[in-house]
Amino acid sequence: MNDGKIIDNHNRLLSYLRVSITDRCNLKCIYCNPDNLNPKLPHDHILRYEEILRIIKVGVNLGISKVRVTGGEPLVRKGVYDFLEKLIKIKGIQDVSLTTNGALLKDNIEKLKSAGIKRINVSLDTLKRKKYKEITGRDSFLQTWEGIELAQEAGLYPIKLNVVALNGINDDELKDIARLSFSHPFHIRFIEYMPIGSRFIKNESPLLAPEILKRIESLGKLNPIANETNDGPAKRFKFEGALGEIGIISSISHHFCETCNRLRLTASGQLRSCLLADYHQDLITPLRKGCSDNELANIFLKAASHKPFKHKVAVNQSIAVKGNMSSIGG
Ligand code: 5AD
Repeated sequence: MNDGKIIDNHNRLLSYLRVSITDRCNLKCIYCNPDNLNPKLPHDHILRYEEILRIIKVGVNLGISKVRVTGGEPLVRKGVYDFLEKLIKIKGIQDVSLTTNGALLKDNIEKLKSAGIKRINVSLDTLKRKKYKEITGRDSFLQTWEGIELAQEAGLYPIKLNVVALNGINDDELKDIARLSFSHPFHIRFIEYMPIGSRFIKNESPLLAPEILKRIESLGKLNPIANETNDGPAKRFKFEGALGEIGIISSISHHFCETCNRLRLTASGQLRSCLLADYHQDLITPLRKGCSDNELANIFLKAASHKPFKHKVAVNQSIAVKGNMSSIGG
């Protein structure tokens, strides 16, 4: 029995569920889904919104209090704003956020806000239009940037900008991107590249946290900020006098597995206990066979009991996880 908590075999309390609502994306980022060719799942292999909400409610009864909606690109799925509104109304959830590539943001901010979304994470790896197209395959830097600015004006806070740091691609821009934190209240998060998927980038010299910090330190005095309980894995900093923050997510150089509190629900209805391990529990089949909430809860507990203590991806180790970020949910 459990008393409304999911505690894994290594005594970690799992209270955060990341939910991918679609494996489809309107971009093909080189670090995520470069071909955007992998056969997309047919609609009936994707969880329906009601099914996702039911699974989340089961999770909430087990102590899930924080949910992030991701994809693929969540804003490409029809009905997403209604879904978000229903999700936010689930009793017991304290925090719902959304990760988006921002390409569809600018015309949809009011819909996000009226659904109840207060904060978002946006992927933005460059400030140059041409480079943006090279990285994402689509010339939508200007509309993405406009979306980010409008989101800020509309009061979404914080807006976290996810920057995957890639040697030879955007390493010349890290300083310019970090500089944005002086003029905007953004939380800029530099993320070490993770070799996920079958088309991972082979990189002899990955750009890791110490080097990222070195590249930006001449901008000013960078003070560490203490992490709060509900914070993610980012190590937080703030330049003196800046409006925003800097975060470093060092999934490779400094594992944060011991404080990992996450489970992931994929769009195809699989519950994964670690982004970087292939283990998963199938939820969609029992769900569609008419199983009870109790049975679903047991699947949550089983997935938790298989959560690895540490993931095995390390510097210069090109272990590739099956499926890419866009199908697992970033
Ligand atoms: N390595 C590191 N970060 C990645 N993301 C996507 N793919 C990778 C990868 N291979 C990040 C993007 C996105 C976030 C959810 O995950 O920045 O915003």
